Amino acid sequence: MLLKLIWGYGLRQMWSIKIREMTESDRDWAAAVVTRQFGSPEVVSRGVRHDTHRLEGLVAEVRDERLGLLHYHMEGGRCEVVALVALSVRRGLGRKMLQELEFVMRARGCSRMWLVTTNDNHAAQRFYEALGWSLVAVHRGAAAAARRLKPEIPERAPDGTPIEDELEYERRLDGEETSDDVQGSIDLRS
Ligand SMILES: CC(C)(COP(=O)(O)OP(=O)(O)OC[C@H]1O[C@@H](n2cnc3c(N)ncnc32)[C@H](O)[C@@H]1OP(=O)(O)O)[C@@H](O)C(=O)NCCC(=O)NCCS
Repeated sequence: MLLKLIWGYGLRQMWSIKIREMTESDRDWAAAVVTRQFGSPEVVSRGVRHDTHRLEGLVAEVRDERLGLLHYHMEGGRCEVVALVALSVRRGLGRKMLQELEFVMRARGCSRMWLVTTNDNHAAQRFYEALGWSLVAVHRGAAAAARRLKPEIPERAPDGTPIEDELEYERRLDGEETSDDVQGSIDLRS
């Protein structure tokens, strides 16, 4: 029993995730990570092109090694998660980064956190759903418009799925169940 406790404690120490603000010295690393994941340091969502190099962000570290990042954009009491990448998946990095962002956003008076992912990204969809985010809209055909702003967006995912739609997820911080924020081709709110 004691051995089990010591072993468990040791494992937790080895995989202790620290989340901190992104600093200028992280910028080149972050741009490289975003480029590897999304084809360029720019991310397009809902018809807006974001230069992630200029966005605020969080970094996830384990034993001083950078293993994840999150870029966000806050405006008018709303916070969009523009990019989220865990370099080691299913180990709690994504969850911890979003939890920290929520903590920061509550302190800053944010009422709504939101993001888009694409129809092919099943892992991300499972992830946001597991964390209790709500799918509030499906923007049909939005990927084609995004591709006009960012030609690096491929037509198909590696598994062959056509990349066509933007799926909008939200997490309300103000307790409201509905909002006027969602302007989608298919609004899934009841
Ligand atoms: C999406 C992403 C950020 C998730 O981060 P992560 O650190 O792997 O996720 P976590 O370990 O915090 O997972 C939390 C929970 O989400 C769910 N989840 C995460 N990934 C999942 C998957 N691939 N399939 C099913 N459920 C998943 C699980 O319930 C998980 O808890 P569990 O592992 O205890 O079962 C990560 O997969 C990633 O970086 N993907 C590539 C980039 C990307 O697609 N970013 C999102 C763009 S919108």
